[in-house]
Amino acid sequence: MIDRLACCRKFSDVEEVLARARAERFRFSDEFFYRLIKMYGNVANHPEKAIETLFAMPGYNCWPSTKTFNYVLHMLVCKRQYEVVHEVYLSASSLGVTLDTCCFNILVKGLCQFGKFDDAISLLYEMPKQRCLPNVTTYSSLMSFLCQRGQVDKAFELCERMQKENIAADTIVYNILISGLCREQRVTEAFNLFKSMVPEGCYPNSGTYQMSRALGVCRAAGHVSMLMNWCSICNANKTASQPLHMRPSQCAAIHQHMQQESDRLLNGVLVLESSGMDFSDSRRKPNVVGKFTVAAALTVMCIIVLKQSPGFSSTDVFSLHEIGVTHVLVTGGAGYIGSHATLRLLRDNYRVTIVDNLSRGNMGAVRVLQRLFPEPGRLQFIYADLGDAKAVNKIFSENAFDAVMHFAAVAYVGESTMEPLRYYHNITSNTLTVLEAMAAHNVKTLIYSSTCATFGEPDTMPITEATPQNPINPYGKAKKMAEDIILDFSKRSEMAVMILRYFNVIGSDPEGRLGEAPRPELREHGRISGACFDAALGIIPGLKVRGTDYPTADGTCIRDYIDVTDLVDAHVKALDKAQPGKVGIYNVGTGHGRSVKEFVEACKKATGASIKVDFLTRRPGDYAEVYSDPSKIHDELNWTARYTDLRESLSTAWKWQKAHPNGYGSA
Ligand SMILES: NC(=O)c1ccc[n+]([C@@H]2O[C@H](COP(=O)([O-])OP(=O)(O)OC[C@H]3O[C@@H](n4cnc5c(N)ncnc54)[C@H](O)[C@@H]3O)[C@@H](O)[C@H]2O)c1
Repeated sequence: MIDRLACCRKFSDVEEVLARARAERFRFSDEFFYRLIKMYGNVANHPEKAIETLFAMPGYNCWPSTKTFNYVLHMLVCKRQYEVVHEVYLSASSLGVTLDTCCFNILVKGLCQFGKFDDAISLLYEMPKQRCLPNVTTYSSLMSFLCQRGQVDKAFELCERMQKENIAADTIVYNILISGLCREQRVTEAFNLFKSMVPEGCYPNSGTYQMSRALGVCRAAGHVSMLMNWCSICNANKTASQPLHMRPSQCAAIHQHMQQESDRLLNGVLVLESSGMDFSDSRRKPNVVGKFTVAAALTVMCIIVLKQSPGFSSTDVFSLHEIGVTHVLVTGGAGYIGSHATLRLLRDNYRVTIVDNLSRGNMGAVRVLQRLFPEPGRLQFIYADLGDAKAVNKIFSENAFDAVMHFAAVAYVGESTMEPLRYYHNITSNTLTVLEAMAAHNVKTLIYSSTCATFGEPDTMPITEATPQNPINPYGKAKKMAEDIILDFSKRSEMAVMILRYFNVIGSDPEGRLGEAPRPELREHGRISGACFDAALGIIPGLKVRGTDYPTADGTCIRDYIDVTDLVDAHVKALDKAQPGKVGIYNVGTGHGRSVKEFVEACKKATGASIKVDFLTRRPGDYAEVYSDPSKIHDELNWTARYTDLRESLSTAWKWQKAHPNGYGSA
């Protein structure tokens, strides 16, 4: 019946049938739940229901099999919800599931997808402890990751290690290595590897023949005759490559594909030879992977986290105003600054609700905070996207907030120039949503995270609150627009508003509980401290300092670096001093500019590493000097930066980085 209801997409009726089955003491089997979970995951596209069902199984006196468990892991990896995959994996023993090689293969693939290669490799050592042995699929995911990142030699090393473990390479392994070699323009080696496949007992398949990359490479290298050879082998192998277990229709499809492929290559050669035009693969598919709705994804996480959270049973406390307790909503509390602010607020006895969509933040940071403050009614985490006005409104209607610290934002200048609309949505439009919800639910205080990027390139230094704001990139412009919206709104509102414009934030919790852990994929947009640490850790070969001819003492740019501990102190002081119907705008910086050279020297001392520095020409758009005048915040909020020794701030941050080489992943 459930299958039939699912076919008609009547998913809500499924719930009813389930409830009746339970009332009638139906004996549930693992197979029943497996199908139900698959229905939620595949047909209904409702992954959070699938997970909920998995966790509900013991309540029906039915323990999930490894097959059911692995299906859920697999579904989550396909939907790129690694954080949730990890949560589910950790719950295996409590669900009575025995892990198998297939489960580890899913995890290895997921970790690779999320750029956590070291974690994936470490599973190779974890597997034998769980009485599972890696197989060719395990190694394939790892090799594929390396090849995609231009490390084909390392992939060959891994292949050797695999073969030493008596695991034979299959066609997929060859395909991965061939495409890796092509990617590195090592066409001759790729060609030789291709030729060695059949003698080694591995028949090429249609994937082997997809040589569009090779085509580009060959053209670049002028190896047109070699390309012809590839094509003739494609055609000659039509029958040799026919695996016995294939259905005739599959073989026909592959042959047709091969024919098209080789025709396309030959045509490409002719076009290239005659016109010298650039090669472009017109069949390249748009990258739609990963566009799955984040909302559904992380709602799941919310379910799990809330279930594990000590505050889960105490939701009521969060929904009532309590005399003597200030309940602060921290948006973006799983991020770098938001998590440090939450720690400080909790330490100062505030009640905190974090709302984050974990697009950039770390669940690990929230877990650290939950462990530090496990008492009911102290901290709750809600997964939500601030772009979802309905969800935001629901959060405000179910919780009694006294104040909001709005940190959540995408916050990389470089990225904002490439994806401006994302920045206007995420920063400007989401601030409007938060503000509307605050107004609708009568939340009285807003502390807003703004930035010195709203000033652009001021004519005079230092920057005061009165310095004209002329932002020059979408990030700065989006923040300035958000500021304007808040200011216009406050003209006719009793809301107490504080706008804090931070300069460059560095450092981490002096007690080493929290740190800065941006996603690996954001490294390229990263900030200077992250780059210094990456260089010290050998993740990148060295630092590139752009511009040594600025009109500054040592020729490099000057910036104002503010320690995160001081920054969150400014927030608490702002919250304390916020007055109804008033707006306070403050620069939060040290008031001292430090050159990039000084910064790098401090970083070398803090890390003890000899960081290689390349001095390059200026980057267009960088301005020579930016530093704040913090007199206003000093005079009005009695705030002064205390952690002004660059080396000390960087040493603290470095300690955390060293102790957490994989960020919160290994925390
Ligand atoms: N780090 C700096 O040097 C710096 C300087 C000036 C201003 N700021 C501002 O401080 C704030 C925090 O920055 P950070 O360095 O901690 O960044 P971060 O990326 O570490 O944290 C931002 C957090 O917001 C969350 N988030 C993003 N979009 C969201 C959405 N739509 N819904 C829910 N959550 C969402 C992310 O998941 C992340 O946890 C930002 O507003 C940023 O513009 C930062």
